[in-house]
This record gives sequence, structure tokens and C-alpha cells, in this order.
Amino acid sequence: MGSCRDAGVLLCALLGGLLLTGSSSGSKLKGPELSLKGSQHIMQAGQTLYLKCRGEAAHSWSLPETVRKESKRLSITKSACGRNDKQFCSTLTLNMAQANHTGFYSCKYLSTPTSKKKKTESTIYIFINDTDRPFLEMHSEIPEIIYMTEGREVVIPCRVTSPNVTVTLKKFPHDTLIPDGKRITWDSRKGFIIANATYREIGLLACETTVNGHLYKTNYLTYRQTNTIIDAQIITPSPVKLLRGRTLTLNCTTTTALNTRVQMTWSYPGEAKKRASVRQRIGRRSSDANVFYSVLMIYNVQNRDKGLYTCHVKSGPSFKSVNTSVHVYDKAFITVKHRKQHVLETVAGKRSYRLSMKVKAFPSPEVLWLKDGFPVTEKSARYLVLGYSLIIKDVAAEDAGDYTILLAIKQSNVFKNLTTTLIVNVKPQIYEKAVSSFPDPTLYPLGSRQTLTCTIYGVPQPTVRWFWRPCHHNHSKARYDFCSNNDEPLILDPDGNVGNRIESITQRTAIIEGKNKTASTLVVADARISGIYSCVASNKVGTVERNINFYITDVPNGFHVNLEKMPTEGEDLKLSCTVNKFLYRDITWLLLRTVKNRTMHHSISKQKMAITKEYSVTLDLTVKNASLEDSGTYACRARNIYTGEEILQKKEVTIRDQEAPRLLTSLSDRTVAISSSSTFRCHVTGVPEPQITWFKNNHQIQQEPGNPSEGHSHPREETQFRESLTKAEQDFLGPRGICRKKGMISTQAPESVCTGDARQPPPGQPRGEASRHLQTTRPPPMERPSTPAQLPALQGLWGPKSPWTPTTPGGSLFPLLGTTEAASTGDPSFSF
Ligand SMILES: *[C@@H]1O[C@H](CO)[C@@H](O)[C@H](O)[C@H]1NC(C)=O
Ligand SMILES: *[C@@H]1O[C@H](CO)[C@@H](O)[C@H](O)[C@H]1NC(C)=O
Ligand SMILES: *[C@@H]1O[C@H](CO)[C@@H](O)[C@H](O)[C@H]1NC(C)=O
Ligand SMILES: *[C@@H]1O[C@H](CO)[C@@H](O)[C@H](O)[C@H]1NC(C)=O
Ligand SMILES: *[C@@H]1O[C@H](CO)[C@@H](O)[C@H](O)[C@H]1NC(C)=O
Ligand SMILES: *[C@@H]1O[C@H](CO)[C@@H](O)[C@H](O)[C@H]1NC(C)=O
Ligand SMILES: *[C@@H]1O[C@H](CO)[C@@H](O)[C@H](O)[C@H]1NC(C)=O
Ligand SMILES: *[C@@H]1O[C@H](CO)[C@@H](O)[C@H](O)[C@H]1NC(C)=O
Ligand SMILES: *[C@@H]1O[C@H](CO)[C@@H](O)[C@H](O)[C@H]1NC(C)=O
Ligand SMILES: *[C@@H]1O[C@H](CO)[C@@H](O)[C@H](O)[C@H]1NC(C)=O
Ligand SMILES: *[C@@H]1O[C@H](CO)[C@@H](O)[C@H](O)[C@H]1NC(C)=O
Repeated sequence: MGSCRDAGVLLCALLGGLLLTGSSSGSKLKGPELSLKGSQHIMQAGQTLYLKCRGEAAHSWSLPETVRKESKRLSITKSACGRNDKQFCSTLTLNMAQANHTGFYSCKYLSTPTSKKKKTESTIYIFINDTDRPFLEMHSEIPEIIYMTEGREVVIPCRVTSPNVTVTLKKFPHDTLIPDGKRITWDSRKGFIIANATYREIGLLACETTVNGHLYKTNYLTYRQTNTIIDAQIITPSPVKLLRGRTLTLNCTTTTALNTRVQMTWSYPGEAKKRASVRQRIGRRSSDANVFYSVLMIYNVQNRDKGLYTCHVKSGPSFKSVNTSVHVYDKAFITVKHRKQHVLETVAGKRSYRLSMKVKAFPSPEVLWLKDGFPVTEKSARYLVLGYSLIIKDVAAEDAGDYTILLAIKQSNVFKNLTTTLIVNVKPQIYEKAVSSFPDPTLYPLGSRQTLTCTIYGVPQPTVRWFWRPCHHNHSKARYDFCSNNDEPLILDPDGNVGNRIESITQRTAIIEGKNKTASTLVVADARISGIYSCVASNKVGTVERNINFYITDVPNGFHVNLEKMPTEGEDLKLSCTVNKFLYRDITWLLLRTVKNRTMHHSISKQKMAITKEYSVTLDLTVKNASLEDSGTYACRARNIYTGEEILQKKEVTIRDQEAPRLLTSLSDRTVAISSSSTFRCHVTGVPEPQITWFKNNHQIQQEPGNPSEGHSHPREETQFRESLTKAEQDFLGPRGICRKKGMISTQAPESVCTGDARQPPPGQPRGEASRHLQTTRPPPMERPSTPAQLPALQGLWGPKSPWTPTTPGGSLFPLLGTTEAASTGDPSFSF
């Protein structure tokens, strides 16, 4: 017995004696005995370990994990032994024992003991001394991870191969944990035992020893054990519904932090009767979480199994629970109800509307939705069935109608249906607002009758009201009058006294393209006051307003240039430019000159000289004592407030040289019968226009002003005198009529006497030469059609009987705009 040598001869003999006595008496079964005595044994690495176990019964060995894997070196032989071979012996042989074979070796009876007091196992700790390997395991590069919980014991398992090895415990970076025998103890069979771990032990720890001058170091990383339950859930959605007799399976899944372990339990209606079987399982461990399952099953469920099932998850002080209710049904059924009302309302333009019914059914029925009796899927792609709900995307007016849900469990022959009415409200819309694209407002001729229309659609039918905001007139100098949408509006009614006189406010409804549209028309009897008209349409889902700038103009199109008279050299050149004060600003007179093919603008008169009146701003330009050099292109420029565009209107001015009056025809003698008429014609030219005076027998004939048939008429240079002669007057008339022409400017103009018949002017000589210089001023070219371009579109909406009346600032509506300088009125006869 080689091992007996180490333990001491005396001890060995003593034990042998005890063995003998026990077996000889046969009274009591003794525990197994090992050939090596004591609680520990030290042997050298590389030697062979012999360990024999002797016992009263069949036994087995319990060995360190490292030894069990040693199939080649390890052998265990069993034999009968003792007196009469009644005992059971087995011998363990481990050749070439290694340092990492250090550990507990024990021998244990296979049969369970009849009495608890009886010893059935013998254990010895064997150190396999190897000075090159003081630690069983070396973790030099990668530390071993040790899970710990604060307040609990933690062991740093730096076991050694010899009990004499002195080990120190260090903590990175500079601490040394000194065993105090209480909180921290050293056990060469276990390592360092920290009884009550604290946060101070969390981190990188190292066991160090120096053997033969060589430092050995093995590393550990303590990792705090947590109680973090990330999530607990029962995968089947609540409530769980099933028919009686089926199998209920509930799967509770818990996700935790990596170093968290959990306990999972169930509470449920049949708990006391242990109706359920529960299986627990650890799921696949991912890199950052643990998953645990607890699966509850009840076969052949009954009504009494219905109720709340709760899965409780516990980890230390952490706790989570998740529940689900279980419904058990005897047979298939459907109940369907309206959620709130039978009639539902929504608003057109909503991104999505959910039409849903309260349905209870088991098992799940087939669902079909109808709109006005037809499957919704055939109606529009905007309808989406989701469970017992119908989702209407981009709600439109045409979605109004009756919706029916059809529910069917065909295999059980259960059918139900329910209808609900959907009203789609539409916010009021004003069509004119949508189609108007002109930034600048229309101008309304002063004194005109105007019709303003708003075409409105909305559900429910909107109410329309008209409002008025007068423009501000600022009576200070350097002022700008303005109109603002922000002012408090005044409500209009046909009998009211607000703003312009209102002729009527009427409303007409018509169905156009299936939509009930309303046209509200305001007729302004007499446009006199500038302001803003607004039509406001409102219903319970919204309000919309259209502002119509109602700017009155006393000049056509709000921009007018006037040359009073084409001046002659030495006369004053008088130009005036009138623009609508709400439409234009920065009015300026320019003289355009072409120098080296470039047109130069010379600003000659500015806004500050302008005079603001009720409707317009007028800027006068006067060039005194005009000379021929003042001829040229004069332009009035103003900026459109709304478009920012600069509008230029030109006027060609040619200053005429003075020219003495000159007769183009002469009077000739004539003989006339009494009571007949005769016409004398005097034809003359000159600059400035000559004034014509008629003489009879050297007496000036007084001409009645304002009677064109009796006096002279334009053009002045061609004047006729017409007289009906009576018997009494014939003597007075005498043989000659005298036509005298007097130069207005040229005092030295000769007095001429014309006698005889009026004759045609010589060929090639224009009649009334001065008329060439007469210019008829026309309104500036229209910048846009007076009828809005969108009109056809609106007429389309309304059909041929359109209530839309365009507000036309037409020529005839301008009473002030007769041609400013009339052309020749013709050639009436002077008859006798
Ligand atoms: C024990 O140590 C030896 C080398 O000393 C090694 O080859 C063997 O794998 C180790 N056994 C175990 C189980 O770690
Ligand atoms: C372990 O072995 C070494 C040398 O092999 C020896 O010096 C030492 O005494 C041994 N330790 C024990 C406790 O036997
Ligand atoms: C462990 O230590 C903490 C504080 O360090 C102390 O509060 C607690 O009572 C200790 N527990 C035990 C069992 O010693
Ligand atoms: C081991 O330690 C014990 C007691 O501490 C001592 O008696 C023995 O001599 C030591 N053996 C060696 C080899 O150091
Ligand atoms: C429970 O759920 C998990 C995860 O969904 C799944 O892997 C597992 O198979 C389920 N167990 C049962 C019995 O349904
Ligand atoms: C069941 O779970 C829900 C949600 O987690 C919770 O609100 C409810 O209180 C729980 N019911 C019971 C009876 O525990
Ligand atoms: C709806 O149910 C009633 C009985 O509740 C039935 O008469 C009717 O035919 C059903 N309608 C449809 C469209 O199935
Ligand atoms: C008139 O215009 C002046 C200067 O722009 C301004 O200070 C004043 O407040 C205006 N008055 C009214 C009544 O708008
Ligand atoms: C259109 O509106 C009028 C006035 O509100 C109403 O009387 C009529 O019933 C409506 N017609 C339709 C088809 O909605
Ligand atoms: C001015 O322009 C006209 C035509 O555009 C050209 O014929 C003429 O040569 C130009 N004169 C000068 C001085 O550039
Ligand atoms: C008008 O101008 C001419 C030449 O430019 C000058 O001779 C004449 O005196 C001026 N007349 C008046 C009234 O200023």
C-alpha cells in the first residue's frame, strides 16, 4: 500500500484494524473506505495515483472533471475482497497525474442508504504538486467571467496544486484584497471566498503567486448578476378564444439581460385542481439577452377553464407578470353592433376614415363589406378591409352612403349583417377663388352697375354672407391710401346703408355634376366707393372667404394719359397722367430721347407732385413756353402694386411751328332766289388754328354759341355760315357775304374777303390741314381681357344659363370717356 506510506504507518494499521472488526462482527454496514487517509493528500505531478476503495456494497467513483476525461491514463478495476470475498473493492489508477487532476476523489455506494445516519461516501482531496503549474487553471490572456450578485458569496476559483502555495488576490489596477478570515477567506481547495460581495469586487481580479522566483497570474472578471427582466409576454393575443374540448396552449416568453435568471409560474382558474401541465425551457441565448419559455397546456378545455391566466416572472426582487383571458365557447356565434350611432359623419379630405362595427364572433367569420349594396372592392381602390373595419382612404364626397358588413361562419351556418350610414361633410369651396390667377384686381368703372358672384359647394349646404371693408383714405400729405383685408368687415344686406348701393343679393342652387352648387350674386347698383367685398361661405365643418377688391376707377383701365391740346411753339405743353390709386404707385413723367440708338429715360416729374383724389392720382406735367425742342415721346410710368410691373404709356408730342392763316378757297358771287338757302364755305389753314369770323356787309355776324347749325363748328378752320333768307332781309343781305379770317397768334394776318360761291379746295390740299395734328387719345391697350379668362370654365360648371356676369369695364360704361378731341363733325350745308 504505497499510499499508506505517506499517511503514516500507524494510521494505516489503525484503520486496518477497524476494518477487520467491522466486517467480523457483520452487525453494521460501514461506509466505504479509501486507501489514502485524511481529508487531503499531496503527490507529485508525473507520478501515478493509486486509490483503492473498499466497501460493504457496490460503489462508484466521483472524480474531478479533468480526470474523467482521461480515458488513456485512468483505469478502475473492481474485485471482490475481504474475508470470504464478501467485500467490494475497486482500484483507481491514474498514470502520470497532471496538476489539473487536483480535486476531490470520492467513492460512494450505489444503493440508497436505509438509514440517513449511515455513511455511504468517502472523499479525499488530492493535490498534484507541480511547481511549474501552481494554479490548476491559468487564465492569462482572457479572464474567466464570474457572475456575482452584490451581498452574496462569490468565489474566485484560483485553485492551487499545492496547499503551500501562497496566493494574493489583486484587483485591477492597484488594489490588493487581503483575506481577513471573515469576509474574505483563502481556501487552497476552492480559491478566495468573498462572503458578501460588494461593488468593490466588481472588475478585473487576479490571483498571483511566486514560485521559484517566477510570478504566476490568473485573471478573473467579476460580472454582476442582474435581475433585469426585459420583457414578458404571452404570444397568443388576448383574449384567447376556443371551442369547448379543444387544447389550450399558452406560451409565456421572457427576455432578460444576459446575467439574469428567472423563475416563471402561472396562476389560472384551474390552478387548485392542477388542470394544466407546464413545461419550462431556456430558449436560444443571444449575444445580449436570455430567453425563457413557460408553456401551459390544458387538454379538453371546459367552461370552468375560462378566465384570467397570468404568467409571473421573478428574478430576485424584480417581478413581472403578463396575463391573458381565455374564453371558452360552446358553439360558433356572431354578434354585431354599431359602435356609436347608426349614422356616422366624416369630412372630405381626411387622409383616412375607419368605419368599424362592434363584432363578437367565434370562430373568426368571413367579412364582406358592401357600399349601397355592392362590394366595396368593386367601388373603389380606396377601400381597405381591416378586420371588422373598413378603411376609407382620402375621404371624398362620393363616399357618403350606406355601408353593410356581412359576416359569415359558413361551416357552422351562422350569418349576420349590419348597415350604417356615412355622411361625408365637405368644407365650403368657392370656385372663383380656385380659378382666379390674376394677381392684380379688376377695376370697376365709376358709376357702373356691377355683378359679383361666388359659386359655392359644401356639405351640408353652406350659408353665404357678404361683407364689405371700405378702403382707407388718408388725408395726410405724402400719403398712400390703402385697402386691407385685416379690417373688421361690415356685414351687407340689400336694404343696408353700408358702402355702395346694393341692388340685390340673390342665391340660386343647381345640381351640377351631381353636386348641389350655390351661386350667390351681389349686384352693386352704383359703383362709387372703393373697398373689398367678401363672400363668406360656412357650414359646420369650415368657412371659406373670397375677397374681391372692388376698386373704382374714373379713368379707363386705371391708367390714362391726356394731352389737352397739341401746343404750338410758345404755348404751354400740358400733359396729365391719371392712375388708379389702389392699383398703381410711383407715378413719374419721363421724356424718352434716342441718343446713339439708345433710348434714354429722363425723369421729369415725380410722385410727390401728384395729387390724390377720390379714385386716382394725377400727375400733371407742364412745359411752359414750349419750343420745337420740347417735341418728343413723353411717357407716364407707374408701378402696379400687385404685379410689381412698371407700366409705361407714351404720348408723342410734336410742337408745331407757327404758320399764318391762309385761305384755301375764296368766296365767289352768287345769285339766289328769295326764300332759298345758300351755303358759304370758308376754308383756311394756319398754326395755331385760325379763328374765323363772318361778316356781312362789313358787319360781324353774331353767332349763337352752342348751335352748331348756326355757328361755327369744328374744325374751326373750316367754317360755314348758313342762313335762310326772308323777303324782309334780302336787302339787308346785299349782294355779298363777307368771310373774314383773323389769325389768333399772328396779329399781322391779313383780313380777307371772300366773295362768290364756295369752291372745293385745290386737289392735294387737305381740308383742314391742322387736323393732321389733332390727335385722338385712345385708352391704353388692354393689358388683359376684361372678361376673366376663366369664364368659360365657370360657364361649364353652370351650363348655358350662367349666373356669372362678367364685370366688364367696357367702353360704353365710361361716360367721361367720349373721344376727348372730336374729329370733324362733317360738312353741313349753309343753305338759303
Ligand atoms: C490538463 O493539463 C494538460 C497539460 O498540462 C492539458 O494537456 C490538458 O488538456 C488539461 N486538461 C484539462 C481537462 O484541462
Ligand atoms: C512540491 O514539489 C516541490 C518540488 O517538486 C517540492 O519542493 C515541494 O516541497 C513540494 N510541496 C509539497 C507540499 O509537497
Ligand atoms: C453585506 O454587506 C452589506 C454592505 O456592505 C451589508 O449591508 C449587509 O448586511 C452584508 N450582508 C451580510 C450577510 O453580511
Ligand atoms: C508545507 O507547509 C507545511 C505547514 O505550513 C509545512 O509543515 C511543510 O513543511 C511545508 N512543505 C513544504 C514542502 O514547503
Ligand atoms: C413558445 O414560443 C417560442 C417563441 O415564440 C417558440 O420558440 C416555442 O416553440 C413556443 N413553444 C410552444 C410550446 O409553442
Ligand atoms: C392584466 O394585464 C393588463 C396589462 O398588462 C393589466 O392592465 C391588468 O391589470 C392585468 N389584470 C390582472 C387581473 O392582473
Ligand atoms: C341581412 O340580414 C337579414 C336578416 O337579419 C336578411 O334578411 C338579409 O337578407 C341580410 N342581408 C344580406 C345582404 O345578406
Ligand atoms: C396717414 O398716413 C400717415 C403717413 O403715412 C400715417 O402716419 C397716418 O397714421 C395715416 N393715417 C391714417 C388714418 O391711416
Ligand atoms: C340642394 O340644395 C337645396 C337647398 O339646400 C336642397 O333643397 C336640395 O334638396 C338639395 N339637393 C340635393 C340633391 O342635395
Ligand atoms: C441705329 O440702329 C439702326 C437700326 O437698328 C441701324 O441701322 C443704325 O446703323 C444704328 N445707328 C447707330 C449709330 O448705331
Ligand atoms: C419763350 O421762349 C423764347 C425762346 O426760347 C423767348 O424768346 C421768349 O421770351 C419766351 N417767352 C416767354 C413769355 O417766356
